Amino acid sequence: MDDRLTNAQRRRLERFGAAEAVDIHCHCLPGLDDGPATAEEAVALCRALAEDGFTTVVATPHQLGRYDRRNGGPVVRAAVEGLNATLVAENVPLKVVPGADVRLDERIIPLLAAGEVLTVGGGSHILLELPHETYIEPLGMIRLLAGRGLRAVVTHPERHDAVRRRPELVLPWLAAGAMLQLTAGSLLGDFGRGAEDAAWRWLAAGSATVVATDSHDTERRPPCMTKAIAEVERRLGADVAKAVCVDNPLRVLRGRPQDAADAAAAGAAPKRRAWGSGVSRGA
Ligand SMILES: [Fe+2]
Repeated sequence: MDDRLTNAQRRRLERFGAAEAVDIHCHCLPGLDDGPATAEEAVALCRALAEDGFTTVVATPHQLGRYDRRNGGPVVRAAVEGLNATLVAENVPLKVVPGADVRLDERIIPLLAAGEVLTVGGGSHILLELPHETYIEPLGMIRLLAGRGLRAVVTHPERHDAVRRRPELVLPWLAAGAMLQLTAGSLLGDFGRGAEDAAWRWLAAGSATVVATDSHDTERRPPCMTKAIAEVERRLGADVAKAVCVDNPLRVLRGRPQDAADAAAAGAAPKRRAWGSGVSRGA
């Protein structure tokens, strides 16, 4: 094991027998969105991620929505390269890979083809963020992506009022092969009681199968996966915590196009069982 690892990283890898501990959703690139404004702040956030047990982070700046035409693929990739070099120089043991937090938009397919919209680590999964201010049905886009071998990971549905009010909305998304990503802070009550309750319900039901930090800084929205893992373990058991906080994030990062095609063809239920194999669903 790399002797530069922090104690928290070492504990996470050993405890879960993992090759990498991955955060698939984090706004850690400097100056691109509402994450860190400067390189110094970005390094501080990356240090906090390493102290929170992560060895790898997918940098997922906002794309489209109010960042339309700003954070295109080449910009994000160059920023990831720059941050990795800075982290080596600053002796922060964290690997950054490119990705994006992609706002639902009808231009996603052509922009993916043009290399402007990014998937998680260039693989088969794409973070899909619903607009906050209004509800727009994502099912059509989830199916379009699945048809191209890509699996949508819908980010923090528990933080959307409209989806919380009608939790059955997510069922067709799952049937079309999508996954639900919960934000670690939601499980700890950081986004209010409604988000907390919805997050735990979807997690216990096996509808939500991956947890990420969606951290933006070290103060207001810091990484808190260590606490979230402890709480998931306490309520739903160690197997669920390992699946949703460690194993599935790594699967999302390493996902191959075939995984997504299989999910779309097989429908949600068999695939969800496969993804959570050995996982107790809890109460
Ligand atoms: Fe985000």
